[in-house]
Amino acid sequence: MRALVMTAPGGAENSRVEEAEAGRPGPGQVSIEVSYAGLNFVDVMSRRGDAGYVTAWPYRPGKEVSGRIREVGEGVVGLAEGDPVVAAPAGGGLAGVVVAEAALTVPLPAGVAPREAAAVPLGLATALLLLTDAGRFTAGDTVLVHSAGGGIGAAIAQLVPLLGGGRLIGTVGRPEKAAAAVASGYHAAFARDERLGDAVRAAVDGQGVDLVLDPLGTEALELDLELAAPGGRIVLFGNAGGGAVDALPPLGRLIAGNLTVTGFSHRALAAAAPAKVARGISRALDLLADGRLTLPVTELPGLADVPAAHDAMAAGRATGKYVVRVAG
Ligand SMILES: NC(=O)c1ccc[n+]([C@@H]2O[C@H](COP(=O)([O-])OP(=O)(O)OC[C@H]3O[C@@H](n4cnc5c(N)ncnc54)[C@H](OP(=O)(O)O)[C@@H]3O)[C@@H](O)[C@H]2O)c1
Repeated sequence: MRALVMTAPGGAENSRVEEAEAGRPGPGQVSIEVSYAGLNFVDVMSRRGDAGYVTAWPYRPGKEVSGRIREVGEGVVGLAEGDPVVAAPAGGGLAGVVVAEAALTVPLPAGVAPREAAAVPLGLATALLLLTDAGRFTAGDTVLVHSAGGGIGAAIAQLVPLLGGGRLIGTVGRPEKAAAAVASGYHAAFARDERLGDAVRAAVDGQGVDLVLDPLGTEALELDLELAAPGGRIVLFGNAGGGAVDALPPLGRLIAGNLTVTGFSHRALAAAAPAKVARGISRALDLLADGRLTLPVTELPGLADVPAAHDAMAAGRATGKYVVRVAG
């Protein structure tokens, strides 16, 4: 099979597509013939060599796929060879065959194309879990999303109207990405510069923000706290810059503002409570299956095109969600 391999920390110069042996499933696992795989910023963080992501090089990236079950491991029930599925493997999804935990492998319902389905297990499921579980979104909430122009940002814009609607404000790293965020469903989007706080305040008529979804480490946390409405929730779910993070706000500030600061990690939840992630994946697939949700994706024709797309994501130049056609 063909597999994308990252040979050392760095950029595209250390990524290549190689022939590799297909893995076999162990107990509780399945192997999957991959049709499409989703690209995620975590692959970029892994490639950069951010602490805590890659324990040994060479590394095979790829954490969400659609495809068909190739082989079922010991003790797996409810999944059979040939079944169309999506899965959130621990890695190695940017390849012809991947091994995934059965607990994180979900049948693909009729009516969902494998192309869009590949954007579900990590991307769309994360967006849904951020809003519903971690963020306790309620219809009518004002929501501020940092990095609104990317894959997660676009998925959030699709989901908020389905969850009852709210006022959606996005931030982007480059002014030219604001239009893409607005086109994806944000009511307003602003570049993260010194005018951001005032721009958001004006956009929400000085009312404060009910929910902030923030993957920027603690870079924007002070602003999040300033913008949060009484009772506001701030969900921290990444550290895109990869640098050191500051301490969380003191208890007195949280109590005085009736504020909640929550962490979210798909990876940690998948390891500790896979059923919660699988439920999120199923719920997201159901939204696609019955036509309530459409998920725009950009298709890359083959694995050889992935390193350049990872470059664009690493430089903050990418917009929306990317999936790559692997087979089928
Ligand atoms: N906790 C979880 O389980 C979880 C799961 C999925 C994704 N995430 C996080 O959610 C965010 C979005 O993920 P995605 O896969 O949809 O990626 P993406 O948004 O398509 O790409 C990542 C974006 O991060 C922004 N960014 C901010 N600071 C950056 C920096 N120093 N270097 C490079 N990019 C920077 C860039 O957009 P702007 O500059 O326009 O903001 C970039 O386009 C990522 O930070 C990711 O790590 C977390």
